[in-house]
Amino acid sequence: MKNILITGGAGFIGSHVVRLFVNKYPEYKIVNIDKLTYAGNLENLKDIENAPNYTFVKADICDFETVVAVFVKHNIDGVLHLAAESHVDRSIKDPFTFAKTNVLGTLSLLQAAKERWKENYNEKLFYHISTDEVYGALQFDETLFTEETKYNPHSPYSASKASSDHFVRAFHDTYGLPAIITNCSNNYGPYQFPEKLIPLFINNIRNNKPLPVYGKGENVRDWLYALDHARAIDIIFHKGKVGETYNIGGFNEWKNIDLIKVIIKTVDKFLGRNEGESEKLITYVTDRAGHDLRYAIDSSKLKNELGWQPSLQFEEGIEKTVKWYLENQQWLDNVTSGAYQEYYEEYYGQKDEK
Ligand code: NAD
Ligand code: TYD
Repeated sequence: MKNILITGGAGFIGSHVVRLFVNKYPEYKIVNIDKLTYAGNLENLKDIENAPNYTFVKADICDFETVVAVFVKHNIDGVLHLAAESHVDRSIKDPFTFAKTNVLGTLSLLQAAKERWKENYNEKLFYHISTDEVYGALQFDETLFTEETKYNPHSPYSASKASSDHFVRAFHDTYGLPAIITNCSNNYGPYQFPEKLIPLFINNIRNNKPLPVYGKGENVRDWLYALDHARAIDIIFHKGKVGETYNIGGFNEWKNIDLIKVIIKTVDKFLGRNEGESEKLITYVTDRAGHDLRYAIDSSKLKNELGWQPSLQFEEGIEKTVKWYLENQQWLDNVTSGAYQEYYEEYYGQKDEK
C-alpha cells in the first residue's frame, strides 16, 4: 500500500503518469494536486476521475500550509513532482512566475516532505521530474548529455528547473531526504497544450493557419513519446536508486524543419490533402531569444541499470499523435477557446476534493 502525491497531474505528462498509476496500481492511493493553470485540464483525466483509488485536490504547490495538510490527510509516502510552468516562450515573457512555481513550489513540497518524513525516511521517496534543458545547448558535433554533464541553463525556464534540481539535491545531501531526479528530453503525444511545437503545428495545419518556424528551423530536439516517459517514471519510482539522477530519452534527434515536414505529410495524409500540400503554410519568423541550438540525451544508464527503453518507434508515435489530435478535435477546440476551464466547476462544483 502506498499513498502517492502526484503534482501537476492535470497537465500533459502528469495526466499520462496519473492514468498509468491509477490503472496499474489499484492498491495505491493516488492524490493529484494541481492548480489548474492554463496548462491544467481535467478533461485529460475524464476516464479515471471516478476511480476509487484517485483523489483530486485543486491547490497551488507554493501554498505550504495546504501542501502540509494534504501530506497529513492522505499520509503521503511518495511524491512524483511534475507541476511546473513548462513553456520556454512564456518564461521569456514572464520569468517571475517560473521562479515562483518551479523553484519556490518545489521548495514548499521538499519542506513538507522533510517535515512529515524526518522521523522515518524508510520506504519514502521524493521524485523530481526534470528536463534535459538544464544541461544547456549542444553544438552539432558535440556528444550527448550524460548524467555527468555540467548544468548550464540558458532560458528562464531551464534556469528555474536547474534551480529546483539543486534544491532537491540539497535536501538529499543536507537532510538525507530520499530523492531521485530524472532529466528527460522533449515529449510529444496526446493531451499536450497546443502552444508547444507538435500540437501547435497539427492544429494550425488542420485550420490552414501559418506555421511559425523560428529562425531557419535548424535547431535540433530529441523527441520521446509521453507514455514512454510515464513508463520510465514508473520503473524509476519503483526500482531507481535513491540519490541518483537518470537521463530519459529515446536517441531520437530531429532538426525542427525535418520534423515539421513529417508532421505536415502525416496530417495531410489523414485529412485527404495532397502529400506536402500544407508546406505552403511554413512561415519563417524571428528566432526565439537565446534559442538553444541542440538537445540530445544519452539514456544508456537507465537502459543498462533498469532495463527501460522506448516502446514506440518515432514514425509510429507521430502517426498515433496526429491521429489522436484529429480524432479529438473537440479537445483541441475546447483548449484553444478556453472552454476546458469550465470543466472543473461543472464536475467538482465548488468543492476542492471529490
Ligand atoms: P504542462 O505545462 O503540460 O503541465 C503542468 C501542470 O502543472 C499543469 O496541470 C498546471 O496546472 C500545473 N501547475 C502549474 N503551476 C502549478 C502550481 N503552482 N501548483 C500546482 N500545479 C501547478 O507541463 P508538462 O509538459 O506536462 O511537464 C510536466 C513536467 O515535466 C514539468 O516539470 C516539466 O518541466 C517536465 N518536463 C517536460 C518535458 C516536455 O517536453 N513537456 C520534458 C522534460 C521534462
Ligand atoms: P517547444 O515545443 O516550445 O519545446 P522546447 O523549446 O522546450 O524545446 O519547441 C520545440 C522546438 O521548436 C524549439 O527549437 C523551438 C521550435 N518552435 C518553432 O520553431 N516554432 C514554434 O511555434 C514553437 C512553439 C517552437
